[in-house]
Amino acid sequence: MKLGREHFSSDFAAVLAMAGSAIGLGNIWRFPYMTGQNGGAAFILIYIVCVFFLALPIFFAESVIGRTTQSNTFGAIRKIAPGSRLKWLGLLTVITPLVILSYYSVVGGWSVEYLFVSICSGFDEDVSSFFNEFTSSGVGPLACHTVFLLLTAFIVLEGVKSGIEKFNKVSIPVLFVLMLVIVAYSVTLPGSGPGISYMIRPDFSQITPRTFAYAMGQGFFSLSLGVGTVLTYSSYMGGRSGIVRAGIWTAVFDLTFAIIAGFAIMPAVFAAGIEPGAGPGLIFETLPYIFVKMGSGSAIISRAVAVLFFLTIVVAALTSSISMYEVGVAYLTEEKKMSRKKAVIVIFAFTWVLGAVCSVFSGAFSFCDSLTSNFLMTFGALLFVYLAGWKMDKSLVRKELYPAYSFVRYVAPPAIIAIFVTNFII
Ligand code: PFF
Repeated sequence: MKLGREHFSSDFAAVLAMAGSAIGLGNIWRFPYMTGQNGGAAFILIYIVCVFFLALPIFFAESVIGRTTQSNTFGAIRKIAPGSRLKWLGLLTVITPLVILSYYSVVGGWSVEYLFVSICSGFDEDVSSFFNEFTSSGVGPLACHTVFLLLTAFIVLEGVKSGIEKFNKVSIPVLFVLMLVIVAYSVTLPGSGPGISYMIRPDFSQITPRTFAYAMGQGFFSLSLGVGTVLTYSSYMGGRSGIVRAGIWTAVFDLTFAIIAGFAIMPAVFAAGIEPGAGPGLIFETLPYIFVKMGSGSAIISRAVAVLFFLTIVVAALTSSISMYEVGVAYLTEEKKMSRKKAVIVIFAFTWVLGAVCSVFSGAFSFCDSLTSNFLMTFGALLFVYLAGWKMDKSLVRKELYPAYSFVRYVAPPAIIAIFVTNFII
């Protein structure tokens, strides 16, 4: 093990950090909606199968690369394939998380604004106009993007143990508790029954080949695969850590949080008699409206729930954004020999500018989003699976990943290609 590299203090700390990267906006605004649209509990069952048999092998591939090479994404590829041109592809694995971080920080900024508004004044009924005016106002979202990115930078600046590990150790339990409080509020609202059955009723008639593609795509995004975050965090794991066990625990945390989020959101949406929508609208328009509407009986409680909800979103987004930030910092400190402070400043400058462009031009936002989710993440995953399954020392990888090795070698590559293709035809 290379001396001078910081490590997580235990395997459990590493699992919490990887769960922090996984748990994010994808669990809150995408999973509940997908479940409802694709057969409720039947979708959850398919999702579980996809996560454990198709997505986790990709996770293992990244993890075994990181833990074995004890390097950042670029350095890891150089070590596995010395002298090969693959190393230039390694640069892409540094760029991908920074592009995602840039637009993710814009949405993180919106959550900061919503947290602020729910604390200071609460929302009035016309939340949609508020959202549209705010996001097109220029200065407000830019300021919030700056605040969110600064928060991320401060945590990363503190280092692997005192920054990333400490923040996740506190945040993950807090996130679960906050979400459970919101579930308690949501399922006791009058009229929440249909929302609960929306989550638990298995409707197998809705299952089509498409359902598998959706479940796989969701698992891919939710576990933060193909971005290098899993690789980088795994490189901070000690030499004896169990990769398979850490991966399974991360997936269990991520899945449990997604299901709890479904039970927090859908019953409230149904209680308010609203059609559940996907994407930013669900969090930034529908839910605040519900908090206002439900406030007539117990305004204080609804307002408090709104504060807790947006706090959950800000914290969940931060635990993800620090993982992407760290990929860039690990690259600059190890490959370019920068101090951590300088690396944090350089990454801040890059992501602030790109995020500002995404904040002002919605076209740039969508472009970065689809570039990363449709191409770069898939490409990164394919690269990692190829390296772990076909380039690294076979006996070592087999020993580390047993019994998942054949999945990494034979199942993951066609699964990734299948998602790539279906993204275009669906
Ligand atoms: N997994 C995060 C979510 O579900 O919101 C999103 C994400 C985080 C994607 C980190 C990629 C990444 F590197």
